[in-house]
Amino acid sequence: DDDDEEGEDYLFKIVIIGDSAVGKSNLLSRYARNEFNSHSKATIGVEFQTQSLEIDGKEVKAQIWDTAGQERFRAVTSAYYRGAVGALIVYDISRRTTFESVSRWLQELNTHSDTTVAKMLIGNKSDLEGIRDVPVEEGKALAEEHGLFFMETSALDSTNVRIAFENVIKEIY
Ligand code: GTP
Ligand code: MG
Repeated sequence: DDDDEEGEDYLFKIVIIGDSAVGKSNLLSRYARNEFNSHSKATIGVEFQTQSLEIDGKEVKAQIWDTAGQERFRAVTSAYYRGAVGALIVYDISRRTTFESVSRWLQELNTHSDTTVAKMLIGNKSDLEGIRDVPVEEGKALAEEHGLFFMETSALDSTNVRIAFENVIKEIY
């Protein structure tokens, strides 16, 4: 029963990180509201959405945080990461520079996280196969090197979006 507060068994904080314009906000809006915006503006500060799902008969709530990829638009970094138990580290398969930034994002995550974090590396914009700049194998290899889960997604055509979020949430649970 959605109205029954006592039915709320778990609340997990998940953060989305990665360079500007890789599609973090659209991954979240696709997952939480089934919406995609082809003219979305850069995020300023922090936004979040809460999404409920059922795992093993228990209600699990994921509070998913989305922040700016651009340094000048970011809020206090330590507050963003505090309490996070899951993270999606996103790059854009059509822009190699965003893939090269992944290790820097991982470093920031590791520096600021205060607990074990379930991590998923996401190569977003898989619909842009024609202008792909990062082979799938490279994504997989980087994920293996750092002990991360890996998936390619498309917020535009919805490929793997739900499963990517839910795999992280299930891993935490
Ligand atoms: P910041 O808030 O600046 O950090 O950017 P962001 O990572 O939140 O990116 P955002 O979701 O705003 O998307 C940036 C641009 O990429 C927008 O024009 C989106 O429409 C587009 N975009 C996002 N996801 C996809 C996707 O899967 N495929 C394609 N083709 N475009 C996408
Ligand atoms: Mg954004």
